Amino acid sequence: MATSSQDTSNRGAGAQRPAVGETVTHHYARSGSLAQRLLDIAQGLRGSGDPTVDDLAPLDHFHMRGVEATAEFAEMVVPKPGQTCVDLGCGIGGPARWLAAHCGVQVLGVDLTESYCRDAGLLSRAVGLSDAVRFACADATRLPLAEDSVDLVWTQHAAMNVPDKAALYREVARVLKRGGRLALHDIMAGPEGAPHFPVPWSSVPEGSFLLPSGKIRELLAEAGLTELVWHDHTADALAWVHRRRADLEAGKPRPPGPQVLLGEAFKQMSSNLTRSLEEGRVTVHMALLETS
Ligand SMILES: C[S@@+](CC[C@H](N)C(=O)[O-])C[C@H]1O[C@@H](n2cnc3c(N)ncnc32)[C@H](O)[C@@H]1O
Repeated sequence: MATSSQDTSNRGAGAQRPAVGETVTHHYARSGSLAQRLLDIAQGLRGSGDPTVDDLAPLDHFHMRGVEATAEFAEMVVPKPGQTCVDLGCGIGGPARWLAAHCGVQVLGVDLTESYCRDAGLLSRAVGLSDAVRFACADATRLPLAEDSVDLVWTQHAAMNVPDKAALYREVARVLKRGGRLALHDIMAGPEGAPHFPVPWSSVPEGSFLLPSGKIRELLAEAGLTELVWHDHTADALAWVHRRRADLEAGKPRPPGPQVLLGEAFKQMSSNLTRSLEEGRVTVHMALLETS
């Protein structure tokens, strides 16, 4: 996978309001440098010896149902050893490391938030995966990759922040080899109106761009991506958030990962997400598509 550098900032798009890219990265980069804090927590949970990918997994999969969802998604997608994979909106690299360690793929994680890319690199080095996983700070709609260069595009809970999804899926189709696959696990709009803000992917409505699943499926088809599997996972997501709530009410500690990333505000974001799911304002989907 040959990569090239390019200017991916969205600056200059409007003098008054922050550009979308700034709204998004400001939301995610709120907690500063994360790698050492996460390694310390993983070390504490492990007890002795250096933390591994699996010790980090409860902390660095930044999507609904965490590493449980990543593993289930991988069972559906079946990435093959040696394949080249790009993880769009990779965050601090939890899924990218998990895929490299458990499926043997070579991963390039791409993310708009510069500090996440830095943390992703540090965490990967700490668990001995620097050769299998690399990271680039770029916009998923303008990838620093040649056309027909990738076997698998993987993306979890990132498209919610991307305003131009037609451009996103066209870019996916451009970089995929013929017969290459797109694996997507995303939050989409429900029928009952906008989510309650703040949510874990945006503090404000200006950073959230949800579309109904029907519209997403149309855009994917227009980009030349053929649907192989489509699963609505909203019921599983709802069952999971309810289990979490019951655990908290029973006095169990809140899982530390998202709280380290998003700080104290995560409590409100998490309860708004639960409420938005319950009220039919958001839905959750996993899908596998192929270029023809
Ligand atoms: C909720 S996090 C999910 C991270 C990761 N996929 C995971 O599941 O652990 C969403 C990520 O998407 C990134 N993102 C949002 N818009 C993006 C864009 N246009 N291009 C690349 N990354 C983007 C954010 O910076 C953030 O790290």
